[in-house]
Amino acid sequence: MITPRSTFLPIATAVFGPEEKQEMIETLDSGWITLGPRTKKFEEELATYIGAKYTIALNSASAALHLAMLAIGIGPGDEVITTPFTFAATANAILHCGGKPVFVDIDPQTFNIDASLVESAITPKTKAILPVHYAGQAVDLDTLSAITKKHNLYLIEDAAHAIGSTYKGKKIGTIGDLTCFSFHPVKNMTTGDGGAITTDNQELAEKIMVLRVNGMDKESWKRNTSTGSWDYAIVAEGFKYHMNDISAALGIHQLRKLDRFLQVRKDVAAAYDKAFAKIPEVTIPYRSNSLEHAFNIYAILLDTSKLTTSRNDVINKLKEYNVGSIVYYRPLHLQPFFQESLGVKEGDFPNTEFVFERLICLPMYHGMTPEDAKYVVDVLQEIIASNKK
Ligand SMILES: Cc1ncc(COP(=O)(O)O)c(C=O)c1O
Repeated sequence: MITPRSTFLPIATAVFGPEEKQEMIETLDSGWITLGPRTKKFEEELATYIGAKYTIALNSASAALHLAMLAIGIGPGDEVITTPFTFAATANAILHCGGKPVFVDIDPQTFNIDASLVESAITPKTKAILPVHYAGQAVDLDTLSAITKKHNLYLIEDAAHAIGSTYKGKKIGTIGDLTCFSFHPVKNMTTGDGGAITTDNQELAEKIMVLRVNGMDKESWKRNTSTGSWDYAIVAEGFKYHMNDISAALGIHQLRKLDRFLQVRKDVAAAYDKAFAKIPEVTIPYRSNSLEHAFNIYAILLDTSKLTTSRNDVINKLKEYNVGSIVYYRPLHLQPFFQESLGVKEGDFPNTEFVFERLICLPMYHGMTPEDAKYVVDVLQEIIASNKK
């Protein structure tokens, strides 16, 4: 019997070093804490890291997704194909513009939208495809790019989990028309809250830059500098969605450490994979040879048909051992709001439901030690061993 550890091991937590702290102090001392030079610097470094022509830093991925939908002109009557196995922000972005999310079931191996089912969901109203790179593993972008080209649609990527991830050697953020990232504290790097859009499309980038500052035609922060001018024109119905320099102060240094963070995540995933491969009740995350998994999330499937306990009970038992675990996500078609607004219902997306009923996300963050990972493995092993049918 394992003795529960004394401290709670969370599903994820942010990790900062002296560099972020120093930059934060310098930012406060500068007196300029909203959109300004540090946000610009973060955008430049992010553009270089991704290899995208334009990077627009925002206050969240939710804002990024909303502006992406606005920039491509989604409006009433338009349909956008997406996955039901995601966070509310993905579908809400479409609804905010008056568009309709059209869900397509997931591939039960990758938990990403099943690209082979997408074409049959296209109608004359379809304007875009909005896949999610679940957990940080890229969706089948070759197939989705071919479909969007053939049908003249936009490909907008929800890469909230996928900063640093690649698809066949190309960084996520360089493939679709617009890619939306999140820097929420449980992501691969953080800016507190924050997000960004990357694109090579100048016209879309310029629209988004205006929309993020209440529709102003030039960057507001320059108005308060010796080189700026006070005057401005409002040219669109915009939003207050830009990143600020406090967030960017964190982001600059988190980005510089991102590849190291990703390596720790990969090491934790490798340790989990190796240990869980020996437990028949556990299915480990699918790995493709041509894709790099960023392991923002480590999600296993638990075969409860072989156990005397339920998935939710296993989560509760993990908690008794001071191990956090979570279910990302309760599918959107099982949520009351989307059932009421879209008419979706239980039974509509069987693969999503199959995965949802068995899924557990285990602790995964770049501050974890090999001992933390071993403890999670030992505890889960013990729970399964003592609850076998
Ligand atoms: C798939 C997905 N899309 C969008 C979001 C929204 O991100 P943010 O919290 O930065 O708005 C999240 C947040 O967890 C997410 O998981």
